[in-house]
Amino acid sequence: MISVAIDGPAGAGKSTVAREAAQRLGYVYVDTGAMYRAIGLYICRLGKRTDVKQDVLPYLKDIKIEIKYIKGEGQRIYLNGEDVSEKIREPEISMAASNVSAMGEVRDFLFELQRSTARENNVVMDGRDIGTVVLPNAQVKIFLTAQLEERARRRWIEMKNKGQEADFNEVLEDVRQRDYNDTNRKVAPLKQADDAVLVDTTGYDFEQSVQLVMDTVEGRLKNVL
Ligand code: DC
Repeated sequence: MISVAIDGPAGAGKSTVAREAAQRLGYVYVDTGAMYRAIGLYICRLGKRTDVKQDVLPYLKDIKIEIKYIKGEGQRIYLNGEDVSEKIREPEISMAASNVSAMGEVRDFLFELQRSTARENNVVMDGRDIGTVVLPNAQVKIFLTAQLEERARRRWIEMKNKGQEADFNEVLEDVRQRDYNDTNRKVAPLKQADDAVLVDTTGYDFEQSVQLVMDTVEGRLKNVL
């Protein structure tokens, strides 16, 4: 099986670029951020705090996350049987996901689901620790990033396009805070794997970013296949 690991900070365009690259390669796209978001959503719905272990860990046993791949539609994510693919994109769920993802027990809980998907399929998997922790033997590792302001701007435009109220400075602050959380947490912090290729999409549009990723994948696979 072939694994393409794509890691990087919030708003780097990972999920849209990774989804398109997976489609072109004919691989399964696995959005691991969506799994952390589903856990964040569950805890928020209980009215509990997502940054306190005692409010999160006792409930993990009640959570069942499933990923289904629907032809033409891609990945749908289910939380205890409910399709939450849209609900997990609400802005307040981003910070909830970042909070629960800092807990080692939550990471362990999702680890096997992520690993088994890559055992059974050729995957493009995106996240924060895919090349470093989840799939250290991935044939291709990419660290996809862009400058902070550009990442915030993309997030802001995406929110406006969805009709969500968004103040640019608040979005910028949110992305900055998540960068800080994700990079500085003790377990599996966001960092570039030693053998990952750095792809910086600052100033690139979507198509150019996809092309950059595809060129990197094809270049690397030529050496390993
Ligand atoms: O990629 P995203 O914005 O959907 O991810 C939501 C949060 O989940 C993000 O703040 C960090 C966390 N995450 C993680 O810690 N490890 C992953 N492999 C994927 C996401």
